[in-house]
Amino acid sequence: MQIKTVQTQPIEGQKPGTSGLRKKTKVFMGPHYLENYVQATFDGVGGVEGRTLVVGGDGRYFNDRAIQVILRMAAANGAAQCIIGQGGILSTPAASHLIRLRGADGGLILSASHNPGGPDEDFGLKYNGPNGGPATEGVTDKIFARTKVIDSYRIMQTHEVDLDTIGKTQVGAMAVEIVDPVVDYAALMETLFDFGKIRALFAGGFTMRFDAMHAVTGPYARAILEETLGAPEGTVINGIPLPDFGGGHPDPNPIWAKPLMDEMYGAGAPDFGAASDGDGDRNMIVGRNAYVTPSDSLALLAAKAHLAPGYKAGLAGVARSMPTSGAVDRVAEKLGVACYETPTGWKFFGNLLDAGKATLCGEESAGTGSSHVREKDGLWAVLLWLNILAETGQSVSELMTDLWSEYGRCYYSRHDFEDVDAAKAEAMVAELRAKLPSLVGSQHAGLTVSYADEFSYDDPVDGSHSAAQGLRIGFEGGGRAVFRLSGTGTVGATIRVYLEQVETDPTAFDQPTAQALSKITEAALTISDLKRHTGRDAPNVIT
Ligand code: G1P
Ligand code: ZN
Repeated sequence: MQIKTVQTQPIEGQKPGTSGLRKKTKVFMGPHYLENYVQATFDGVGGVEGRTLVVGGDGRYFNDRAIQVILRMAAANGAAQCIIGQGGILSTPAASHLIRLRGADGGLILSASHNPGGPDEDFGLKYNGPNGGPATEGVTDKIFARTKVIDSYRIMQTHEVDLDTIGKTQVGAMAVEIVDPVVDYAALMETLFDFGKIRALFAGGFTMRFDAMHAVTGPYARAILEETLGAPEGTVINGIPLPDFGGGHPDPNPIWAKPLMDEMYGAGAPDFGAASDGDGDRNMIVGRNAYVTPSDSLALLAAKAHLAPGYKAGLAGVARSMPTSGAVDRVAEKLGVACYETPTGWKFFGNLLDAGKATLCGEESAGTGSSHVREKDGLWAVLLWLNILAETGQSVSELMTDLWSEYGRCYYSRHDFEDVDAAKAEAMVAELRAKLPSLVGSQHAGLTVSYADEFSYDDPVDGSHSAAQGLRIGFEGGGRAVFRLSGTGTVGATIRVYLEQVETDPTAFDQPTAQALSKITEAALTISDLKRHTGRDAPNVIT
């Protein structure tokens, strides 16, 4: 076994985004590409000598081969130990838990989340720190800085590790442990939720469909929902992880989880439907004829979390990303707990959770989570919903109607304009930024602008400052439009337009979302002049 130092040179564009580095799989498979980024990561975190790392991914194409490279490089860089999910599989929340449970120094998670997988699709790699959460801005900057000057990487020339057999082995002097990816995570869930009550719910005939979208949560959902909680076989569909997710787009929203939506809105729909994404951190919740927006789901969970044993002491506080609707703010106000507004991306919640300032966090992009790990957690959200459904005996739509009656309904939608020429997208943002001050008081589509600003964030825990986190335009009457550029895309730029309107009149709760948001939508498009800048008439995806 020999350690080889390979001469290399910086590769342009290895800039980690909101959640690590994401590129086309073939880019990652190119000469030295993965190796450069892994070495830059090791160097950026201050070296891995003597350290313990958790390694696993969502099972997408190239997952297994990339893990072999990472292991040989970790060994060559002097790591003491790598803990790996069997078959190279670990959901993002399970990896976060394992890092914390085993007191590891960090972890490498191989995933491009909800982006499609396969040789012509996307791959990704992210580093999580010792708290189990995504690398902080500071660490990410160091990794990126290293990619720009790297001149060599270290790799051990040795045999492949058998990733399929649970147990211990070695790569050179480095210990390797292959663990069951589900067991520890399932045990954690059992400490948070009343499994007895949920078991009784299923035993009483409650029906559910969980769409694992051929992604990583299949084995987790089957073990927990079917084998432990007694949901009938077939409750979990598309439960076998596939390298290309069965050709699908493993993003749990009404567009990409349409078969589930059709079932939930069709005759004989089950009581409850849910789905999770590529790496298991996102969730979609839908009742019979009742889709729940992620922003509303966060609000409902905040209002009812105390019904689950893990949260019976109440919440220390809640946090939401800035573009997420203000529904949870109203609940927090009534509960008398703090509500933090953070930039987009889970890493900003980490400090709040570590400091005990927040217990629940969420994003409009189908991410919900709590202090039990330092990532969002799809199956956790589903189990909390099940616990609440079991305790209240109410249906999803009854719970939502009660929530809206108490706090008002936040109509909400996100319009994505994908693969826009990056220069044009940036020009649109720059022009809008420049005119923000002049917008206040102006009228668009019959709405008056009450405020217009650019969101920036001062972390209340470490004092760090994050600038330019999205442009916000508020309207009299409680409407809001937000503009930001995606940090996770792999082709061109994606402009995200987030639209929100609060409705407090119960007789108007049954409007279609597009109708409730029609004025805000028109105003947003007029103010930004999106069509002139991008040539686009309509968004590619509306969620
Ligand atoms: C998107 C979501 C964001 C989420 C991130 C990682 O980032 O909008 O909420 O944290 O994926 O899952 P974006 O592409 O908008 O930068
Ligand atoms: Zn994800």
